[in-house]
Amino acid sequence: MRKKVFIARPVPFQVEQYIGRHCDYEIWRSQDPIPRDELLAGIKDAEGLITHGTKINEELLSQAPGLRIVCNISVGYDNLDIGALRKHGVWATHTPYVLDDTVADLVLGLMLAASRRIVELDAFIRAGDWKETIKSDLFGVDVHHATLGIIGMGRIGKAIAKRAKLGFDMNILYSSRTPKPELEEAFGAGYRSLDALLEQSDFVVLMTPLTPDTVNMMGAEQFRRMKPSAVFINASRGQTVDEAALVEALRSGTIRAAGLDVFREEPIPPDHPLLKLPNAVLVPHIGSATAQTRFNMAMLAAQNLVAAMRGDRPPNLIPELKDLP
Ligand code: DGY
Repeated sequence: MRKKVFIARPVPFQVEQYIGRHCDYEIWRSQDPIPRDELLAGIKDAEGLITHGTKINEELLSQAPGLRIVCNISVGYDNLDIGALRKHGVWATHTPYVLDDTVADLVLGLMLAASRRIVELDAFIRAGDWKETIKSDLFGVDVHHATLGIIGMGRIGKAIAKRAKLGFDMNILYSSRTPKPELEEAFGAGYRSLDALLEQSDFVVLMTPLTPDTVNMMGAEQFRRMKPSAVFINASRGQTVDEAALVEALRSGTIRAAGLDVFREEPIPPDHPLLKLPNAVLVPHIGSATAQTRFNMAMLAAQNLVAAMRGDRPPNLIPELKDLP
């Protein structure tokens, strides 16, 4: 018998077709986020769910007694209550590998934009302020040959290190739970404590997953440790940074600039103080947002779903639930 699944956001037509070849499905087609009551109605008798960022918790799982798997269309999975999933015996998958290069490209873009003041100087021209050769107060800082510190050295961190080393001759430092000798070998990357990395880097890139241990890991004290000429990039999750402390660090010159893909509240409120700072480059959580990569992510989520509906173990179970039967 065909299993029933619920797709809680629009997916590309070929992905929908692929799911349809294997399962009965209902889909939320609106570009607006699915309201909670619609989601609960959709999963009531579903065995599989495809979603992106929706909170999956006890309240939801207790109303979906037949649910067997939740398939995230994202590599991060901080939207999942892992204890609740385990309690209900529900698998969860994410979409690693397919977005690594795309996110790494964006991080390099943010590094360049923030250090060379690309957005600020674009606005300068549009405002009609380019009347003569720019003065030194508008100069930027170099990326090439600078020291890059990557916090959270997973697959994406590695893709960033590769670009930085091979493309920009940067000196690479990293901090992570365990040293990675292969990175030291490939890119001459130096393992550092977080404090040492902050003190020694010209660019600090935060790539760590959001967990209870990483909430607010960058606060006033950490920004104070950074060089006044340093640029901070966050492409992990907004909650890893104390945003008020970041605003203060950018305003006071404790650090030079920031490039941010993620925020504590998304979409960021229009009156947020970050929007007033010319030395902050802001993009709306677009790390993986190219047409090809978003397609690949949706297809990978669908493959995880279909595998489970066939009774197989899905290929991209999140590490914390790999032992779940
Ligand atoms: C993810 O997949 O977790 C990324 O944040 C998407 O851009």
